[in-house]
Amino acid sequence: EKTGRLIIVAYRLPFKIINENDQVQLFQNSGGLVSAVLSLVHEQEGSPFNSAEKIQWVGFTENTPEELEGQSLANDSFQAHPVFIPADVNENYYEGFCNNLIWPLCHYFPSLAKFEDEYFESYQIANRLFFDKVAEIIQPDDVVWVQDYQLMLLPEMIRDRFPDNKIGFFFHIPFPSFELFRMLPVKWRKAIIDGILGADVVGFHTNDYVEYFLKAARMVAGYGNKLHYINLSNRIVKVDSFPISIDYKKFNEAYNEPEIARERLLARESLKDKIIFSVDRLDYSKGILHRLHGFQRFLEQNPDWHEKVSYVMVVVPSRDKIDQYQQMKSDIDQTVGRINANYGNINWQPIIYQYRSMSYDELLGMYTASDVALITPVRDGMNLVCKEYVASRKDRKGVLILSEMAGAAAELGEALIINPLDNQDIADAIERAFEMSEAEQTKRMDAMQTRIREYDIFAWTNDFFTQMIMLEQEHERLR
Ligand code: UDP
Ligand code: G6P
Repeated sequence: EKTGRLIIVAYRLPFKIINENDQVQLFQNSGGLVSAVLSLVHEQEGSPFNSAEKIQWVGFTENTPEELEGQSLANDSFQAHPVFIPADVNENYYEGFCNNLIWPLCHYFPSLAKFEDEYFESYQIANRLFFDKVAEIIQPDDVVWVQDYQLMLLPEMIRDRFPDNKIGFFFHIPFPSFELFRMLPVKWRKAIIDGILGADVVGFHTNDYVEYFLKAARMVAGYGNKLHYINLSNRIVKVDSFPISIDYKKFNEAYNEPEIARERLLARESLKDKIIFSVDRLDYSKGILHRLHGFQRFLEQNPDWHEKVSYVMVVVPSRDKIDQYQQMKSDIDQTVGRINANYGNINWQPIIYQYRSMSYDELLGMYTASDVALITPVRDGMNLVCKEYVASRKDRKGVLILSEMAGAAAELGEALIINPLDNQDIADAIERAFEMSEAEQTKRMDAMQTRIREYDIFAWTNDFFTQMIMLEQEHERLR
């Protein structure tokens, strides 16, 4: 039996809207969530959703209402419902509450967290604007799936007005231990816990995050749990871990595509014998500076490897209106400059640093050309880049060096696991990776590939929605 439509609510829409001469063009994002959701409707047998219906997607847009007036905001898969947020509200909401407070707290950077009263007011106003849009379009059997820390108050808002619709919530970043969560003002903590618990199913990437959330719910609001269930006076909420994944097959099969083979060849020809690769958004949670120090340590201690290694470090611009991010950009620029100046020569630049985003072909070219992927976040909810690297290695070669602080480390134990704050640990891992036999590389890759293949993005969405449906049966049993 099919349910109604699927309504996704996320801060970002599934495509960029570009308005040129009063004609809008839609450029679909390639992100994890977009492919996850697409799979739910189009590729899964027994999908609970009617594939004739487009996915309804509510998200913020920077375009003005006038620009979008009368334009079709749909492609084959998605019908977008833009939310307009006044610039001053968005600043206190997105840059303020979301990225100057919740992001640093959840990534264990409490000293970067800023607490302004206007932040929370704007957070409430913005969540309400998303709610208004949902209220405008929702129908009785629709299932609403709310995404991430930008929308923690929304599930409760929907529940209050539409008690019978099914609501899911997924938190894509680390949920922190209680000692960090309790740094929030008492009223805000309570509002966040109650906001999230408006959902029927609440998902996190790892068991630790689930445990921390359950503890926060208990400490802040006195909600007890039995295993993964929180029993509210009139409802049960399921809180569980669903480690997000990737479209394994797509990344694995990319290896032999001609454009990607060409990119791979180009990288191999223009770089030194050993290639190290990393790509992250410019973010203090990604451990970019520590990683540079680790690489520098490796160069210091291994003169034999000089002129034989190229570290390709791509940093993707992100949140560049926030001071902290601008500061980091200049710290990275300086550190790279210093290392290249100290070690480089006319034949060799140790770090090839690029500040830009990559096309899919370039990204896959680099993944498949690299001897080592160096992924060292000091904190990361999951980290998809490492899963993509592993999946893309159809040749079963290459070494993943991975931070123990990434959610993905819980699944990828065959990587060389390092402490991202420990320069020596990073330097040693690089050395070990360069010396690792091909047989050993393949053994480790095989194990990681099997795990990602078996729990790919389709399994992830399927798992989440199966839980939603099972919970309904649970409700009926208790009625
Ligand atoms: N990615 C991208 N543009 C780029 C390089 C990478 O969109 O120029 C993608 C990458 O393929 C991955 C995602 O961005 O799917 C990053 O996800 P991750 O979980 O690693 O980190 P996040 O940016 O969400 O913190
Ligand atoms: C992380 C968050 C997402 C966010 C993305 C990009 O993956 O979990 O919610 O959209 O980073 O950040 P941005 O601030 O550009 O949306």
